Amino acid sequence: MQITRAIVPAAGRGTRLYPITKAQPKEMLPLGARPVIQAVAEELSAAGVTDILLVTAENKRAIEDHFDPAAGLTHDDAPDEARDYGFPPDAARFYAIRQGGALGLGHAVSCGEQFASDEHFVVALGDCTMTGPEPLQRLVEAHLRHEADVSIVVQHVGREATKRYGIVAPGDRLDETSLAMTDIVEKPGPDAAPSRYAVAARYVFSPALFRYIAALEPGLGGEIQLTDAIRAMLADGLRGIAVPLMPGEHRLDVGNIASYGRAFIRMMLTDSGHGEGLRSYTANLLAHIDDPNHPDPDLPSDA
Ligand code: G1P
Repeated sequence: MQITRAIVPAAGRGTRLYPITKAQPKEMLPLGARPVIQAVAEELSAAGVTDILLVTAENKRAIEDHFDPAAGLTHDDAPDEARDYGFPPDAARFYAIRQGGALGLGHAVSCGEQFASDEHFVVALGDCTMTGPEPLQRLVEAHLRHEADVSIVVQHVGREATKRYGIVAPGDRLDETSLAMTDIVEKPGPDAAPSRYAVAARYVFSPALFRYIAALEPGLGGEIQLTDAIRAMLADGLRGIAVPLMPGEHRLDVGNIASYGRAFIRMMLTDSGHGEGLRSYTANLLAHIDDPNHPDPDLPSDA
């Protein structure tokens, strides 16, 4: 079996990023030299995905245009040094559907039921990426190897942060990349969290997911929660696994200004083309902020 399809929920309104998101989707914010949604597509393509369904909403057409090879600036219009940052026009096929209301992540994913066409598929949230393609590649491989119905990349988070994520209850270690998953709770908070392994926005599912979403009542926040469907799958004995991030791997999240700032700085400072110059600029800027006698790197030097 191969996994070639991915559903990318990108319909959220980005209220925590107002006013940046007043008229543009948060998924189009730059992380380094590319928009975050393109970094997501690059992760998917590196994991073998060829067909990507974007689940969007009003005011999100820029995302669809971004992956239309004929819309806006094309690869051929771009100068050489910028072209390398573009998404190769034939690296994946894109489709789009509108969610039709802020009804929750589970509902957004269910919009892709026909697209998934009875195969196993990836879900990758469109407002965050990883420091590299490896976590998603490992997730897909582990899902197939363990013949799972639901597999999730998880990251270790602080106690308080358990109120901001889905938190999984891990079972036995299965191999060096994977743990069994026995339960999952949406945003439980420190007192109810079954662990500190947080759902890191990358999932692989069997098509069984859709019947569990269809049976859900609205959960936390009155929304159809993807986490609740996963919980019901696990309670029914379907096989779930969790694949933790490894040391040195990070999730880069655009969801709020503080996390966006950190993600942008990391991507920019590690960029293959611009990183070196910006690291030296940043070191000098920090020295100047600490000690105004240190030369301001934005003033012309005499050299
Ligand atoms: C969603 C999921 C949550 C997950 C998070 C990761 O929450 O419901 O389980 O941990 O994405 O980004 P949201 O951030 O959309 O509220």
